[in-house]
Amino acid sequence: MLRAGISIDPAFTVAPVNRRTFGSFVEHMGRCVYTGIHEPEHPTADEDGFRQDVLELVRELGVSVVRYPGGNFVSGYRWEDGVGPVSGRPRRLDPAWRSLEPNTFGLDEFVRWSRKAGVEPMMAVNLGTRGLQEAIDLLEYCNHPGGTALSDLRRRHGAEQPYGIGTWCLGNEMDGPWQLGHKPAAEYGRIAAETASAMRQFDAGLQLVACGSSYRHMPTFGAWEAEVLERAYDSVDAISAHAYYEDTGDTASFLASAVDMDAQIRDVVATADHVRAKLGRSKRIDVSFDEWNVWYVSRLSQQVPEEWTFAPRISEDAYTVTDAVVVGSMLITLLRHSDRVTAACQAQLVNTISSIRAEPGGPAWRQTIFHPFAQAARLARGQVLQVVVDSPTYGTEKYGEVPVVDAVATHDEDTGELAVLCVNRSQTEAVELALDLRAFPGVRLAEATVLADEDRLAANTAEAPERVRPRGHPDAVCDGERLRVVLPPVSWNAVRLAPTG
Ligand code: AHR
Repeated sequence: MLRAGISIDPAFTVAPVNRRTFGSFVEHMGRCVYTGIHEPEHPTADEDGFRQDVLELVRELGVSVVRYPGGNFVSGYRWEDGVGPVSGRPRRLDPAWRSLEPNTFGLDEFVRWSRKAGVEPMMAVNLGTRGLQEAIDLLEYCNHPGGTALSDLRRRHGAEQPYGIGTWCLGNEMDGPWQLGHKPAAEYGRIAAETASAMRQFDAGLQLVACGSSYRHMPTFGAWEAEVLERAYDSVDAISAHAYYEDTGDTASFLASAVDMDAQIRDVVATADHVRAKLGRSKRIDVSFDEWNVWYVSRLSQQVPEEWTFAPRISEDAYTVTDAVVVGSMLITLLRHSDRVTAACQAQLVNTISSIRAEPGGPAWRQTIFHPFAQAARLARGQVLQVVVDSPTYGTEKYGEVPVVDAVATHDEDTGELAVLCVNRSQTEAVELALDLRAFPGVRLAEATVLADEDRLAANTAEAPERVRPRGHPDAVCDGERLRVVLPPVSWNAVRLAPTG
């Protein structure tokens, strides 16, 4: 058995937990929208055609903010297609996913769905095939109370009150050659700055996110962020980061994917701070990690149909225990960077690259990756603490020596509760973890669960939806000064400690 230790102290904090760290993403991609969140013929559908079985799972997941409508989809999207009477909406081709888009679900439905789900909507504007004028039209439609052409149009569509959308993404992955309307950094930076300034003339308090690189290994990573921010620094609040990982056979490296995500966050922060110094500004630019997940993207090309298809089955990855541990470790990383990562969206919510699966006319269920997200969203409260992890390491081909154990802890000063979330990345060795609690006198163990399985490739299915879920930790003990818990190989562990009495 390996041994590891964790030291924490309530005086050493990183930042408050941002609720927006627990964001998600709904894109018109595959079956995320159609037969995912929207299926009027489903037995659980409500008067708006929203699946209530899915809505219940979204609430249980603890999602705070949902980005919409894309993704690559947004770069060819006309928002006007998705408002007003459904009978008059056009059917279009969506080149991003080679899909037929009926527009029976659009902005008006998304905002109604968000209210029912209890999430904050986060909109992306199309800076691929469209630009500034459409962005400010969309803003007026959404947020102006009334008395103008577009705000009155919204009211005629049944939404008397403005939507009050506060966070806006200025396009999507504009550095990617696959993106409709892909642009060089200098050109995108100018357009992002112009669009952001115009949007601020309507509402100075908006949170605006410029596109960063599509992923860390883009050849222009770093240079793109620097060039965009040199032009848009004063007009935006955050720069986006995206990352997806998959197990291509080198499972040791895959389990350490969060090491790469951690380096990506550090790189983006360093680049933003370099521009800050260069421009002589005091304001800081934060990171909106608005797409992240495990995604078996190498399978995508065989899944996108050649024919234009309505709601094709693409990227319906069935996630394993191993995938859940990687997702858990990415959440640990995002939380650890709460001082600069002010929003994060797991991509996506339902069916496509998702935590929740739903069959047309059939059941909805929790994938393995649902659980670390739901637990972190429920347990992480108060301040993120600085955590010193003393862990053995293991060798990986992609990232060199990495710690076997990774962990984050939060402390809620109001309730006195402490949450510790940790992973064991070893495929063969259990780890006895000792958590030093001397700085938290009087706490007792309130809850300890583990997600692991003898078969690290076990997954949940429609037939066996509960095959993988967190279970009570068989051997967690706390003597008031120290918590000892055995972390099985390839495991996600969640511990809550509460004041005695
Ligand atoms: O989430 C799936 C896709 O991944 C998004 O459309 C795009 O932004 C990213 O490349």
